[in-house]
Amino acid sequence: MMNIIKAMSKLIQTPFITLCLFFVCLSQCSIAYSLGSTNSKSLHHCNFPAIFNFGDSNSDTGGLSAAFGQAGPPSGMTYFHHPAGRYSDGRLIVDFIAKKVGVEYLSAYLDSVGSNFSRGANFATAGSTIRPQNTTLRQAGGFSPFSLDVQFTQFNDFHRRSQLFRNKGGVYETMLPRAEYFSQALYTFDIGQNDLAAGYFHNMTIDQVRAYVPDVLAQFKTIVKYVYGQGGRSFWIHNTGPVGCLPYIMDLPHARDAPLDKAGCKIPYNEVAKFFNRGLKETVSQLRKELHSAAITYVDVYSVKYHLISQATKHGFEEPLRACCGHGGKYNYNLHVGCGGKVKIKGKEVMIAKPCKNPAVRISWDGVHYTEAANKWIFDKIVDGSFSDPPIPLNMACHKNL
Ligand SMILES: *[C@@H]1O[C@H](CO)[C@@H](O)[C@H](O)[C@H]1NC(C)=O
Ligand SMILES: *[C@@H]1O[C@H](CO)[C@@H](O)[C@H](O)[C@H]1NC(C)=O
Ligand SMILES: *[C@@H]1O[C@H](CO)[C@@H](O)[C@H](O)[C@H]1NC(C)=O
Repeated sequence: MMNIIKAMSKLIQTPFITLCLFFVCLSQCSIAYSLGSTNSKSLHHCNFPAIFNFGDSNSDTGGLSAAFGQAGPPSGMTYFHHPAGRYSDGRLIVDFIAKKVGVEYLSAYLDSVGSNFSRGANFATAGSTIRPQNTTLRQAGGFSPFSLDVQFTQFNDFHRRSQLFRNKGGVYETMLPRAEYFSQALYTFDIGQNDLAAGYFHNMTIDQVRAYVPDVLAQFKTIVKYVYGQGGRSFWIHNTGPVGCLPYIMDLPHARDAPLDKAGCKIPYNEVAKFFNRGLKETVSQLRKELHSAAITYVDVYSVKYHLISQATKHGFEEPLRACCGHGGKYNYNLHVGCGGKVKIKGKEVMIAKPCKNPAVRISWDGVHYTEAANKWIFDKIVDGSFSDPPIPLNMACHKNL
């Protein structure tokens, strides 16, 4: 320990580090200045005691796995070293958010084994849409039955019942959140991608998908208002990513003839995602007017993901449009043989959709989801507020009207 301190003080004496510290101070001061100019309240870091998350596989930490069986190996190989309910080789953006906020990685609400909800709960499940899906369509597309309205119902139940049990004391007291956490918590959302994908999987035209986006956003808005009604005040809302750059969309027969951009992504699919995002941003600004005590941060995850994919090499990543873990085809992705997929060869099960050698330099894990390395990179870009509206960092996201 002493050695580290000595080394640190030595480093601080060097001009380079001093320069860095100077810039850190500069950027902090300028944030404080710009915040201070619009808000007279003293600014403190938000001390979020809990996180409640809603979403799809981009932030599912074990929900769908709890309901329908674990995503098997090699998922989890990089960080957890075993499948951990996440569709990735390791952690998701929501895990890095939890770490930064200082709470444990979130347990999935649906997971009855080993869960601890004292610092929040995760209602996200892979395949979730904002709108409830027609059963026939849902089965055809593999989408989750836990759409956002269901996630809210679960949250509502959790809110009420967790307090009944907490009041019994004992172990319940240590595993369920305090009543006041529901108003102090950070509420995070990352959902919408599957509402777009569902249309493509059902062979709707680009225009047909565009046409229902306003209805999807209206339903999203309703749910945020419900959460506010339950006491939620700090919201951190991710927009949807560039699905036109993801193998599972690019590989659809639907997308075969779609024009490509410079990065090799399919333009119309990204255009619809951007259309969704413009609507989401507008929805958020309406919510700010309607929910007077809410602090709502809109986070432009799309731009960060697109930047990473289109300039992968510059940032030390390789083959941005190919799945690390998959089987065959232009994108190393096969709808029918997912990551970890096996076939029987001479009576023996053999994994044919294997992971790549070095997931740390890859962006797409399985053609649908991002690697831990990409998730970390994206988190590092969004945490300081550079891609947020208003442009405030994660640890200031409880302040409204900044
Ligand atoms: C569900 O989708 C199927 C297939 O497109 C359609 O035939 C059916 O009418 C839909 N049901 C509802 C309730 O919308
Ligand atoms: C649940 O997590 C909280 C906070 O991390 C911890 O203090 C508590 O002991 C945990 N409860 C159990 C039963 O592990
Ligand atoms: C969509 O079209 C493809 C052929 O291009 C077909 O194989 C598939 O069954 C169709 N999907 C639905 C849900 O109708």
